[in-house]
Amino acid sequence: MLKEAQPEHLGRQAWEIDDRTKFEKAHTVIFEDSILASQVVAQEIADLIKQKAQAGEPCVLGLATGSTPKKVYAELVRLHREEGLSFANVHTFNLDEYYPMEPIAFQSYVRFMRELLFDHVDIDMERVHIPDGTLPRGEVEGFCQKYEQMILELGGLDLQILGIGRTGHIGFNEPGSHRFSRTRMITLDEITRLDAAKDFMGRSNVPTKAVTMGVETIMNARRVVLMAWGEGKAPIIKRSVEGEISEQIPATFLQDHTNVSFVLDRAAAAELTRIKTPWAVGSVDWRETTTKSVVFSGTGGDPIYFETVDQLTKSAVIWLSQHLQKPILKLTDRDYNDNGMSDLVVDRGSAYDINIRVFNEVQHTITGWPGGKPNADDTYRPERAAPASKKALVFSPLPDDAVVSMGGTLHRLVDQGHDVYVAFQTSGAMGVSDEEALRYAEFVQDLDDALADKLTQEASVYDEVFKSLNSLTPGDPEPLVVRMVKRLIRRSEAKAACRFVGIPSAHEFFLDMPFYETGGVSLNSLGEADINQMVKILTAIKPQQIYAAGDLSDPLGVHRVCLDALIQALSAIRRSGDDWLDDCWIWLYRGAWQEWSVDDIEMAVPLSPEEVIRKRNAIFRHQSQKDTALIPDLSGSEPWRQAEQRNARTAEIYDQLGLAEYEAIEAFKRCCF
Ligand code: F6R
Repeated sequence: MLKEAQPEHLGRQAWEIDDRTKFEKAHTVIFEDSILASQVVAQEIADLIKQKAQAGEPCVLGLATGSTPKKVYAELVRLHREEGLSFANVHTFNLDEYYPMEPIAFQSYVRFMRELLFDHVDIDMERVHIPDGTLPRGEVEGFCQKYEQMILELGGLDLQILGIGRTGHIGFNEPGSHRFSRTRMITLDEITRLDAAKDFMGRSNVPTKAVTMGVETIMNARRVVLMAWGEGKAPIIKRSVEGEISEQIPATFLQDHTNVSFVLDRAAAAELTRIKTPWAVGSVDWRETTTKSVVFSGTGGDPIYFETVDQLTKSAVIWLSQHLQKPILKLTDRDYNDNGMSDLVVDRGSAYDINIRVFNEVQHTITGWPGGKPNADDTYRPERAAPASKKALVFSPLPDDAVVSMGGTLHRLVDQGHDVYVAFQTSGAMGVSDEEALRYAEFVQDLDDALADKLTQEASVYDEVFKSLNSLTPGDPEPLVVRMVKRLIRRSEAKAACRFVGIPSAHEFFLDMPFYETGGVSLNSLGEADINQMVKILTAIKPQQIYAAGDLSDPLGVHRVCLDALIQALSAIRRSGDDWLDDCWIWLYRGAWQEWSVDDIEMAVPLSPEEVIRKRNAIFRHQSQKDTALIPDLSGSEPWRQAEQRNARTAEIYDQLGLAEYEAIEAFKRCCF
């Protein structure tokens, strides 16, 4: 156990560490959110640089790329600009680089590091080292040996920061990597290539090889900080921190490091025993409490939060029911006692009382009336009965999110007479393949008129698209004309789906938010123009219900940014004193990557077999995402199939808990603002 190795500031600002960490085989610190966690990590790096500078020594840092360390680099840049942190004594070694890779390519880690850190601080570029993706194959091995040698000559890495892949890789040490591996060329795991597909416009463009520091190289660093954010990392974090050391999960090797910290946000920590089943690691306070937990703070708005009553009991009972594969109403005192929950029985009287209460609570989440049931007693219903007809504004980050995640609910809202509006936040153009664009360009000759001022006089849309696509190499920014064709493809599909669901075209809004329209694969930061668009649509409609995507571990980042934009827009509206917000409820759907867990669900909308087929047909309108979806899920299956499996799974869990048996269920969680 590494309790004694806790660095001061990681220990101090984090949640308390006590016996509850007994299942954790490495020092693990959990922060409310990744922004605070990144600041603390950046502060540790800054302190080390300063301490080394004072001693007149070089500071040797091992650096990572990917989405995880971005906020750390942003904070280091801030510390340099505002607090005079100097990088004059810093030497850096990056973990890895794709092979082959030109340093100027969009996906190159050289470019990444320059754009996020090196170009903004006073580091001597002679002291920056990144594996070279341009070398001829025969020279790679010699380069790797030299890389190791250079680290040694500087006295070794003082501090190595890491992210973690869903395979459990550190650097690009994929499953199967040897504990004593050194810097070398490796073959990327298929899951890693899938995760990288977003940066390369499709998995087939992702290199199959990379050059990476080895496990031994990382283990030799005097201090290692592994960071992980978001619910998508939660399962691999549990296995890395609590599981057995295994080559199959290279991050588990870190358990043997004498000065490592796993730094997590709450979502990434969700599967750890002390968080998921706290009663298994010590006594818990079962008293009924109302808890507010921040879901997402965004980058500039007031945080949104979940408010729950007696959540721990609900989670515990659902867990016990699933663990013992027994319906809730059949759980006995003995079941509670045998599973570390005797205190709960003492506190509440009997298993019977606990069961009935949680059963009813779960039962009350089920409703066929997502917009509220008119003239009904709504005391125990998820939505308010009045007004009978509500304005519901559905935000769809990418054009197909709304139907994939809540197609059945959309149908119901329309059928039950609510005024449903859909705002498609981004164009989704990145998700359309080049072949599809070409097919449409061939077919839709009359786009010529719409794009007349963007084209050279003689060339047709087809000529321009054909020419552009033929001269592109993977990763080049997309020419405007190709981008526009792709944008229109997705727009026409979204319109077709709205028509199918029964949403009038006057209720469709295509925001084409600028943060997404970079022409490349990376996203811009949210700007005023993005927020203004959101404010405009919200204040024009003044909805009583907002539906928005709550998938925060979105590999593309689009969902996260779209939610951030919503929060910032709502904050701006609140500041302006508009009070319609007081009557507006926000429901978060999930489904693009991960569904809500059953103890989180506050509104469960059941779908009949016919409704499932209807939803499938709505998803089919998004034809460009069928078969060729550039960013499929892990299983590689199509969006409609993933949606059906997810909705069927939720229904199955409700059934196993002893509730009614439905064909499928769409799930929502209410968040407060
Ligand atoms: C990056 C690296 C990788 C990433 C990991 C997580 O240099 O070595 O191990 O840290 O794949 O990637 P993100 O942070 O994008 O989730």
